[in-house]
Amino acid sequence: MAHLIFVEITALGVQSIAHAKQLGHEVTLLRSPLYDFITPPTERARAEELADRTLHADDLQDVGLLLGLLSEHGIGAGDVDAALSTLSLCVLSAARLAERLGARGTPYKAAAAARDKGRCREILRDTGVPSLGFAVVTTLPQALIAAAGIGYPVVIKPVSGVGKAVTSIVEDPEGLRVHFARTGEELGAMHPGLAAELDERFIVEELAVGELYSVEVAADGERFIPLVAVGRKMGRDNPVLELGCTVPSGLPAGEEAELGEYAARVCQVLGLALGIFHVEVMRTANGFRLVEVNPRVSGGSLPDSVRMATDHNVFEILVDVFLGAPAPAQPLPWRRAASHTFLAAARNSVVPRDLPADWFEEFRPRLHSGWSHAEPGAEIRAMKGNFDTFGMIRVVDCDADRAAGEVAAVRRDIEKRLGFALTAVAESRGDPVAAAPRRGER
Ligand SMILES: Nc1ncnc2c1ncn2[C@@H]1O[C@H](COP(=O)(O)OP(=O)(O)O)[C@@H](O)[C@H]1O
Ligand SMILES: [Mg+2]
Repeated sequence: MAHLIFVEITALGVQSIAHAKQLGHEVTLLRSPLYDFITPPTERARAEELADRTLHADDLQDVGLLLGLLSEHGIGAGDVDAALSTLSLCVLSAARLAERLGARGTPYKAAAAARDKGRCREILRDTGVPSLGFAVVTTLPQALIAAAGIGYPVVIKPVSGVGKAVTSIVEDPEGLRVHFARTGEELGAMHPGLAAELDERFIVEELAVGELYSVEVAADGERFIPLVAVGRKMGRDNPVLELGCTVPSGLPAGEEAELGEYAARVCQVLGLALGIFHVEVMRTANGFRLVEVNPRVSGGSLPDSVRMATDHNVFEILVDVFLGAPAPAQPLPWRRAASHTFLAAARNSVVPRDLPADWFEEFRPRLHSGWSHAEPGAEIRAMKGNFDTFGMIRVVDCDADRAAGEVAAVRRDIEKRLGFALTAVAESRGDPVAAAPRRGER
């Protein structure tokens, strides 16, 4: 029997605790109320019920405090086999904790380099992995100089990203001015658990134009295996917004293999030797280019779509590699396609009061799965980032185009039923330049 420590847990991540328990392992869950807003109460309760013990700490980033807490329960160096987190906000403390306990974990230095978008690009540049022009800045004058050097349009985003907060695509110096002017206000409106992640550093990057993909790369200490590549839905009017995924990617086999190799190479040069990592990559006219690496398994609804398409559970693979099992030898073969889309409002909107309370159920027969918490009369905030979605719809079908097409049709019908505009998805398939038509080829 092994002993695993989970630092916090995500809604779908509970499956990894369930897997560990099913294998007869001991599980300690470290939690903080600071992250309650991320995991719904039912899943949180389920995680605590499955774990052998749940220890609560106010600050999960303070590894000294966590070590003290564990030692109060008789857990110290040598007692733990692995420490991990499925939540990006806690991967660094899990990595540090693993090192301090002498347990298996993602190497701290590598996780920290991946979380720092500037450091990450430096490593890619130094190791010759194709990347994008960039500069790390803290002030508007520095950003103006950086953007002039890189060439507009550019992306400006916090060095450690948190769900699209204060991230803009800017066309000209005025756009940078607007970005900096709005930053204070946006930070003030953010949840403290997220705001704590940010400092004054921004990265200014060359805009990659094309279709967005993501790859889950598994590393078992020896090998880096691209488990699954996925097509990502971007916002039509604001490509920064993430609106869902389709598994499989729909890319021709040769290109999908190239994408997988590229993502695995990114993890390798960063030294992300143990875990499953979420690598976001743009397919541009010049080839694949990294958008970001998240040194943890995919969040959101993607792991379930992967399970539905491949019959493999990435959370189980995650626990297995952390406990010393080899990563799967090859990408997971897919058996069917799954496509999910988030429901979000394009502008501040109100759900019509005269809708039946169970309006969403009308759409269920056309869906494999989904949810909505848009109750009649509810006010829905315009989508600014990952936390502004009010629902998710998913279709499972025999191929990617059919699944994506049907989920798009359901989305349109939901939009009609609700009577307000939903955040529109960019039409991107097939043409690497069509995803961001306003920006032209660079
Ligand atoms: N250099 C870039 N070129 C094109 N699009 C980008 C670039 N950087 C970020 N984006 C867009 O912005 C989104 C958010 O950026 P990302 O670095 O993934 O931050 P987060 O950590 O908030 O997810 C990406 O999903 C992508 O659509
Ligand atoms: Mg991202």
